[in-house]
Amino acid sequence: MTISVIVVAAGSGERLGSPRPKAFVDLAGQTLLEHSLQAVRGLSPLPQVVVVAPEAWVEPARELARGILGGDAGLSVVAGGTSRTESVRRGLGAVSTNSEIVLIHDAARALTPTEVFSRVTGAVTSGAKGVIPTLDVVDTMVPRNRETGVTSAAIDRDGLAITQTPQGFDAVTLRAAFSVFEGDATDDAEVLRASGVDVISVEGHRDALKVTYPHDLEVLASRLSPTPPNVFTGVGIDVHRFEEGESLVVGGMTFESDRGLAGHSDGDVVLHAITDALLSAASLGDLGTHFGSARPENAGVSSSVFLETALEMVREAGYSPQSVAVQYIGNDPRLGAVREQMGKQLSEMVGAPVHVSATTTDGLGLTGRGEGAAAIAQALVVRH
Ligand code: CTP
Ligand code: MG
Repeated sequence: MTISVIVVAAGSGERLGSPRPKAFVDLAGQTLLEHSLQAVRGLSPLPQVVVVAPEAWVEPARELARGILGGDAGLSVVAGGTSRTESVRRGLGAVSTNSEIVLIHDAARALTPTEVFSRVTGAVTSGAKGVIPTLDVVDTMVPRNRETGVTSAAIDRDGLAITQTPQGFDAVTLRAAFSVFEGDATDDAEVLRASGVDVISVEGHRDALKVTYPHDLEVLASRLSPTPPNVFTGVGIDVHRFEEGESLVVGGMTFESDRGLAGHSDGDVVLHAITDALLSAASLGDLGTHFGSARPENAGVSSSVFLETALEMVREAGYSPQSVAVQYIGNDPRLGAVREQMGKQLSEMVGAPVHVSATTTDGLGLTGRGEGAAAIAQALVVRH
């Protein structure tokens, strides 16, 4: 089926109160018209597009539309009229005569997702002559006298729906309805109904809200703004030298060995790297800042104490660890046999999964020559 989409963008946007016509107002770096056309561009195949712009904005509208749709193929831009109905009528005049389906969309519904266009098109393709996207009414509705402000009994909202665009039509039926319609209608479904044609509904979308007042722009802007980051990663590296007579502690486990890792504490590079990574993720400085060798009380202390203290600081700062990956770099000890058990124990300490791996460095460097061992860790934390 050949499809044309008319995007009506010729209104002045009086209620928005912007110096430029509403469709040309900026929303997060793009005009409302561009946002609307972006949803149209999501359709495959790309339909014929007719943009209806204020007379003085026909050329700017063409430029913007080209930018989104890529080139002129299937694009027409025409000047609108003094009412929405008149603008649609002019747009319809530019719709290709072999189009079988016509969708009419308000540029003001800038963030309408492509899926709504697809749903409407699907219903027309299935035989409906007129289709509108609708939403259930969630608020209680009451009649209200505008002058006196007096309200009366609530209307049964089960029988009501909120209408949106794009509205979709069988092209022949739409042209026939417009050819006999006089005056202004609130939307195009009304023009069809005036001809006695049934208009059916499909599910609309909350994002398809129409920008009418300044507050609507703020709502859509916040919808587009990226969520503030609340996930952070941290890195930590630690290196210690091997020395005779030290006990060999790696990842909180003690290994049989005639030499161990020398350090101010027990020299556990794996725990130190994890501790450093967690502090780094929470932007709390590093191991040296909090547990440096300048502090005599840290001499010979088990590294698990550093980790526990750092975890407390991380939590107090409002972060919670999500996962840690740590890699031991050294010839000894071989971690293969205890890797899983070490991961399990460390996960319990951290309160989040800790994945342990190990590598050697092909005989190169301080770890390759067996002078020492190193560990590198990465931590992921979430801020609450
Ligand atoms: N529209 C149009 N031609 C008109 C009036 C409206 O093409 N003469 C379009 C608007 O550009 C908008 C859609 O119809 O995309 C819905 O209209 P509305 O939200 O009422 O927009 P405005 O008429 O521009 O706003 P206001 O009524 O506040 O002036
Ligand atoms: Mg209007």
